[in-house]
Amino acid sequence: MKRTPLIAGNWKMFKTCSEAVETAKRLAELTQNITDMDIMIAPSFTSLVLVSESLKNINSLINIGAQNLFYHKEGAYTGEISAAMLKSAGVSYVIIGHSERRQYFGETNEDVCRKIRASIESNIVPIMCIGETETEKKEEKTLYVLDKQIENGLKGFRSNELATLVIAYEPVWAIGTGNTATPEQAEEVHRYIRSKIEKMFDLNLAENMRILYGGSVKPDNISELMSHENIDGALVGGASLDVNNFIKIVNFNK
Ligand code: 13P
Repeated sequence: MKRTPLIAGNWKMFKTCSEAVETAKRLAELTQNITDMDIMIAPSFTSLVLVSESLKNINSLINIGAQNLFYHKEGAYTGEISAAMLKSAGVSYVIIGHSERRQYFGETNEDVCRKIRASIESNIVPIMCIGETETEKKEEKTLYVLDKQIENGLKGFRSNELATLVIAYEPVWAIGTGNTATPEQAEEVHRYIRSKIEKMFDLNLAENMRILYGGSVKPDNISELMSHENIDGALVGGASLDVNNFIKIVNFNK
């Protein structure tokens, strides 16, 4: 089964507008001939329009992602951003349910579910983040936690609605810590996630779904991660902020 790899950079709360535009432009220049994979960067909300406008002129292949959205279409929700607003800012991907949002902003699996629906309705590709904490791992609850995140995050969807969905497995204990899951550990969990999708939906959806790994992905571990059958790409945090590092990750197969 051949799935197009996706290498995605989550810039989190880093970079001002000018820094974001400068980084994105450099990256666009360096990736102009890369057509065998999808590349995405997710700057902060304030930089989205500027980044997407600045890339238009240079015929870039880079996709713009947002790091969050709110699920209502519009309304009195001070400080929130809708899917339609993101779409109008040039966004084609959105990260949903990142562990930092679950941990610091109280996002639940039910919120994640509503956000996925909102993104799909606006033709934005959702990247649903799932993963266990260190304590849950120690208590051997990893698969139980993933089950709940997947079952509740994807509740009520029909298979055909989820054709574009990307899942990112990001073990919380591996994020920003330098402790990557071993490629074998990641592969095993990814295989489990795919089989879960098959059970909940169908084989076709499961086989075509891209499952990314996230958590301390670096230039020196990406190739081995990507050599595994069920690892279809990476959601990169820290190492995506620096163009030289990120380009090495994008070029994992060169
Ligand atoms: P790091 O790559 O910095 O560990 O972050 C991973 C992440 O959270 C991507 O969403």
